[in-house]
Amino acid sequence: MAELILALDVRGRDEAERLLDRLPDLRWVKVGPVLFLRGGPALIRAFKARGLRVFLDLKWHDIPTTVAEAVEGARELAVDMATVHALGGQEMLRAAVQASGGLRLAAVSVLTSHGAEGYWDSVGRSPAGDGLKAEVARLATMALECGVQAVVASPQEIEAVRRVAGRDVWIVTPGIRPSGHGADDQRRTADPAAAVRAGATHLVVGRPITRAIDPVAVYEAICQFLS
Ligand code: C5P
Repeated sequence: MAELILALDVRGRDEAERLLDRLPDLRWVKVGPVLFLRGGPALIRAFKARGLRVFLDLKWHDIPTTVAEAVEGARELAVDMATVHALGGQEMLRAAVQASGGLRLAAVSVLTSHGAEGYWDSVGRSPAGDGLKAEVARLATMALECGVQAVVASPQEIEAVRRVAGRDVWIVTPGIRPSGHGADDQRRTADPAAAVRAGATHLVVGRPITRAIDPVAVYEAICQFLS
C-alpha cells in the first residue's frame, strides 16, 4: 500500500503544527529548506515527538565529505529518510550510504519541475526525443548500485524506475496533482490514482493540501487512492 508524505513547505512552526493538528492520521511529513530554515532541528524533534516519520528533503549535492557529515547530522536527529542528488555522482553517493546507518537515503533523479527541454539545456546534451525516462532510469541505476534504497522520480518515470530497481526499493513521487488542481511550477505530473497504479510507494503532496481551502478534504480524497 502506498503512503502519503505531506510536503510541509510552510513558513513557520505555528502554521505547520496547526495543519498537523487537523490531520491526526498522517504518518509522514517532508521537511525541505522552506521550513527547515525557519524551524531547524527543534522542529524535526517536535515532529518525531508527535510520532511522525520525517523525510528531510535538503537534496544534498556537494563534495563527498560534506554530504557524509550532513547525513550523520540527519541520523543524529533520527530522521527517517533524506535526499541526495544522484547527479552528485558515485563517490558522493557511496560516502552518503556509508554514513547512513538506519537512515534511508533517497536519490533525486530529475526534478519534477524540469521539462525535457529545460533539463537537457542544463546538462548540455540533447538526446533524440524526450529521453527523460531513460535518464531517470540511468540515474536510478547508478544510485542503487551505490547502495541508495529509494529513488525520487516523477509519476511519468515510475515504471521505468521499477524496471531497474529491486522490489524493496521505494519510489517516492512528487508532482502529484489531483484532478482540478493546477500544476504550479511542476512539469511532469499525474493524479494520485495514476501514480499508485504505476507503482509509486510514496506520494509526496504539498500545495494541493497545504494551500487548499479545505486541506482535510483534499488529504482524505487522496488517501482513498492509496490502497
Ligand atoms: O507543492 P508540491 O506538491 O508541488 O510539492 C512537491 C514537493 O516535492 C516540494 O517540496 C518539492 O521540493 C519536492 N520535490 C519535487 N521534485 C523532486 C524532488 C522533490 O517537487 N524531484
